[in-house]
Amino acid sequence: MNKLQLNGREIEVQDSDLSMTLLRFLRERHFLYGVKNGCEQGLCGSCTIVVDGKAMRSCKFPVQKAVGKSLITIEGMEYPDGRVHPIQQAFMDAGAIQCGFCTPGMVLAAYVLLLENPQPTREQIRKALRGNLCRCTGYQHIIDAVELAAKIMHDQGLPVQAGCLQGQSA
Ligand code: FES
Ligand code: FES
Repeated sequence: MNKLQLNGREIEVQDSDLSMTLLRFLRERHFLYGVKNGCEQGLCGSCTIVVDGKAMRSCKFPVQKAVGKSLITIEGMEYPDGRVHPIQQAFMDAGAIQCGFCTPGMVLAAYVLLLENPQPTREQIRKALRGNLCRCTGYQHIIDAVELAAKIMHDQGLPVQAGCLQGQSA
């Protein structure tokens, strides 16, 4: 049986789903609509999810390749008690969300950056998010949000780890 970890839980994957893209698998089989379909061509970043700690475009990632791996979508960022992750909170506080379509991908790309580099410069943030397009914000508030999230987690000693993984070793 094919298995993978999805937002901290082990799930089984049917053989018939192995040829789907993760974008379609997550939306159509698991109803995770935070995984956005912007272009389905690997161009916009709105379908970004985290695969084994790396930001990946789910529209270009076959389910087959995800077997045995750990996936996090925006739905996995919040804590089991319903509190949002500090990165999500910072996006709201910094006014970095307008229509919200790009936000899940932006938050997850920021998450991967902060996992690797908890105190990035604005330039490093810009670079990490450059593959994620936003038609609304002009990007400045998004950079502000990631900077704010880094500061809050640092100042309050909060772990970067996604809410669904809190209490787990991975
Ligand atoms: S939907 Fe995947 S990159 Fe645009
Ligand atoms: S907030 Fe609308 S696309 Fe970014």
